Amino acid sequence: MLVTPTQLTLGARIDDLDLSCELPEYEIDQLMLLLGRHGVLEFPEQNLTTEQLKKFSERFGKLYVSPGGRAQADGFPEVMILSNMTREGQALGLKDAGQSWHTDMSYSRTIALANILYGTTIPHRAGLPLGDTQFRNMHAIYEDLPTDLKHKLVGKTITHDFNKFWEMMRQRPGNTRPALSETEKNIRTPAIHSACLTHPITRKKVLYANPGYAVRINEMSEKESDEILNFLFEFQLQPQYLYAYKWKKNAVLMWDNIGTTHNAVADYAPEEHRYIQRCQVMATRLFGESGTSDPIYFEPSGVAA
Ligand code: SIN
Repeated sequence: MLVTPTQLTLGARIDDLDLSCELPEYEIDQLMLLLGRHGVLEFPEQNLTTEQLKKFSERFGKLYVSPGGRAQADGFPEVMILSNMTREGQALGLKDAGQSWHTDMSYSRTIALANILYGTTIPHRAGLPLGDTQFRNMHAIYEDLPTDLKHKLVGKTITHDFNKFWEMMRQRPGNTRPALSETEKNIRTPAIHSACLTHPITRKKVLYANPGYAVRINEMSEKESDEILNFLFEFQLQPQYLYAYKWKKNAVLMWDNIGTTHNAVADYAPEEHRYIQRCQVMATRLFGESGTSDPIYFEPSGVAA
């Protein structure tokens, strides 16, 4: 496999894979290892149908289907459309997905392993791409935490709540999301995970506390929990942990949702069009029935040709 690391805190480009073909199991295993090592993988110049994107994505685990049923590709509920485009006055997809720092599905007992996005319309201005997807390296962030804080976080758990991100988005000027109903809240009840997880691919510790969904360190007073979460959220913002991916038309971007957080940069106008298809791969290969308290460490199983 032709792998070119970015030499930055995250990211590698893989040039010689055609994701429309069914890859052998040993290559899927290799991609799992690369995902753990580099956090963000770019596959440039792909030519995929929606079905091929889905087929590639489901090799890594079960695909998430949003219970809201919004913004799904025709005939493919596992593929969501992220787009600011409209047809005959109807939105083609979600226009504000992921526009703040977060980790997808941390509010769920079974967390997400990876997002796999395929971008076919990328906004540009003055020849430069807009709408970067930015990432933070949660392996490096854990590594660099002050030692006394690392000790303090041992055995601590964090509650993650879907409603936190939803409300944050609702507070933005012009946002039209309605408040979640009690029924919607009950579909996505908050989940609890260890503050620091051992990543099942790298077997190294990551900080699992993202500003989008983490609301409370359960074993602390509210005051201490707020102080420490605020410290952790600020700490993550240091520039050395940042990697910004600049989109290229027809690239597939895959990222590790356990070892990174991400943010979709909304720096483009409504007439600057963006169209991306997204599959969300759940970590069903890496955690058992009881979620993150039941890790299944990744072992490559495929046999090289
Ligand atoms: C997301 O999956 O959070 C959206 C990322 C993006 O649109 O850049």
